[in-house]
Amino acid sequence: MTGQILDGRKTAAKIRDDIAQRIKRHRDQNRRAPGLAVVLVGDDPASEIYVHHKRQDCKKVGIISYAHHLTADTSESALLSLIDELNEDSKIDGILIQLPLPAHISEEKVIKRIDPAKDADGFHPYNIGCLTSRIPALHPCTPFGVIKLLEHYAIKLRGLNATVVGASNIVGRPMSLELLLAGSTVTICHRFTKNLAAAIEDADVLVSAIGKPGIIQSAWIKPGAIVVDVGTHRLTNGKLVGDIEFETAKNRAAWITPVPGGVGPMTRAMLLFNTLSIYEQEMNRENDPER
Ligand code: GUN
Repeated sequence: MTGQILDGRKTAAKIRDDIAQRIKRHRDQNRRAPGLAVVLVGDDPASEIYVHHKRQDCKKVGIISYAHHLTADTSESALLSLIDELNEDSKIDGILIQLPLPAHISEEKVIKRIDPAKDADGFHPYNIGCLTSRIPALHPCTPFGVIKLLEHYAIKLRGLNATVVGASNIVGRPMSLELLLAGSTVTICHRFTKNLAAAIEDADVLVSAIGKPGIIQSAWIKPGAIVVDVGTHRLTNGKLVGDIEFETAKNRAAWITPVPGGVGPMTRAMLLFNTLSIYEQEMNRENDPER
């Protein structure tokens, strides 16, 4: 078997085109552009690149990105005050605080301070709670991107056995909630899982989000499975690889995401999607005659 490629680049480009068209229609009606505040604290090179790409994506579709690049010694209270300002700013629809933050700043406090209605990343406990309660509001971007990618290829998840490897707040946990919402039977693996191979062997859908190449052996993959690799790791030769060895896994899977070009572009597209959703809700409120 040779797995078919789940092409995140092409799918994300199509989603961006749809978003750009929707924004153009709003602009043609003389409405303001959607706004996304992008906050970066410190000078982690990887974070700088991510933020740069996110701002470029905004530009492509007509979202204004407002950059706030703060020094690594910024105090927690200064960052919280900036969030308070952004929460109140009517030209800002979405707020993104690039993670990780410097060690002296509590990510939990920062995420909780964002107005849940402006939480473009979908990380606020309110939005995670909504997803848990089957009333999704703003979805975390990476798991949402995986679901949209599978939807694009008309892959149905209801009744499938899905195994998620990784239980982080950003990817693994919300990924398992998305799969549960879609009707899959979900197994979540993490650092205390005793028998990873056993949990993977039965998976019709495998999502790996660890960032350690080789953590999953291709021989464990169920023939015909849908394989989604969220892990990214840069080798010393500069090559970006996932958790799963692509060439061998491709020969077992029915569908598989490449790294790069799989989930990464979808995550970025979902940030734009969330920002547009927040903006459109605001536009509906502003145009509500009952208001
Ligand atoms: N750091 C790594 N991934 C993400 C993400 O999706 N959003 C934010 N804000 N920070 C990240």
